[in-house]
Amino acid sequence: MNYNKKTVRDVDVAGKKVLLRCDFNVPQDKETGAITSDKRIVAALPTIQYLLEHDAAVIACSHLGKPKNGPDPKLSLAPVAQRLSELLGKPVLFAHDVVGEDAKAKAAALQPGQILLLENTRFEKGETKNDPELAKAMASMADLYVSDAFGAVHRAHASTAGVAAYLPAVSGFLIQKELEFLGGAIANPKRPLVAILGGSKVSSKIGVINNLLEIADTIIIGGGMAYTFSAAQGGKVGNSLLEADWMDYSKDMIEKAKAKGVKLLLPVDTVCADAFAADANSQVVKAGEIPDGWEGLDIGPETVKLYCDAVADAGTVIWNGPMGVFEFPAFAKGTEAVAEALSKTSAITIIGGGDSAAAVEQLGYADKMTHISTGGGASLEFLEGKELPGVACLLDQ
Ligand code: 3PG
Repeated sequence: MNYNKKTVRDVDVAGKKVLLRCDFNVPQDKETGAITSDKRIVAALPTIQYLLEHDAAVIACSHLGKPKNGPDPKLSLAPVAQRLSELLGKPVLFAHDVVGEDAKAKAAALQPGQILLLENTRFEKGETKNDPELAKAMASMADLYVSDAFGAVHRAHASTAGVAAYLPAVSGFLIQKELEFLGGAIANPKRPLVAILGGSKVSSKIGVINNLLEIADTIIIGGGMAYTFSAAQGGKVGNSLLEADWMDYSKDMIEKAKAKGVKLLLPVDTVCADAFAADANSQVVKAGEIPDGWEGLDIGPETVKLYCDAVADAGTVIWNGPMGVFEFPAFAKGTEAVAEALSKTSAITIIGGGDSAAAVEQLGYADKMTHISTGGGASLEFLEGKELPGVACLLDQ
């Protein structure tokens, strides 16, 4: 896939109406609906500000949540419009529909330097079906399409990909940065390239492991998925997370890594607990020797040393998935040690979105990383080497 895409700097935006796809899929308080993190809104500001300062009229749009049956007041983007207005320090007009009378009238009247936010694109049934009629209707309000919704580029939806069939399409600064770092790490990494993979399930990382076996020099496995690898080699894993159906696959991967000369590092010791609880009793045992009734919740101190040594002289490190149950402080040590090692290495450090990004932030190392991806599912599909519809639809440089 070509990651070298035209950006807002490569086109003339002055006097143009720009349909800007953002990822304003912000977390909200279940009771009050209040926005609990405005990170995604803040991440979109550089592109919005650039467009407004260069005399574009910005028609912003996004999805929020997964509405199933059309408009749902709980998933309205109105609170996002308000927060965006506070952050920009200027009014943000709001349309109560996506391509209806309100949106069309407000978009038509929009002047250079003004911004309008459309209602949740998923209130339109055609959005997730990538309906060409919806894409055409959205495109008809604008002269140019800019996508900055990295978190949604793995979706082939009307507003993330379909509209590009009807308008010139370029990227905003957020997507440009994600492509530079994630794309650079995949296509032309500074070596050695070390990939750290954690999280609970092997099955959710198959595509990533398969792809990284082709390009990485070292693959480090931690988190719950390590127990399936351990069991596949005949280890005792007690009550640990185990995907029995993926044991053969794990064994094949160990063989494949050997054949390809890729170093595959697995835990050599484990912190196991007598319950899945923050205050459970714990002990350190050798990997594959977890007693019955106990479950592995973190990598052990020997493993920490092994993994930290592996990142110390890396050229690039990609990290996706925590090493243990970092939400419980007693079982966060492995994840914390890896985060600390990444903060000290001179390597380019790239953190996949989702849990690993949350861990790095929670543990206070966020500002020490080269790049933290804003996309969870999107960064995973990126690492799988899949074509991302929301990137593929943009004009090549
Ligand atoms: C995300 O939150 O990962 C993106 O906004 C994509 O959302 P989705 O999984 O509902 O498509």
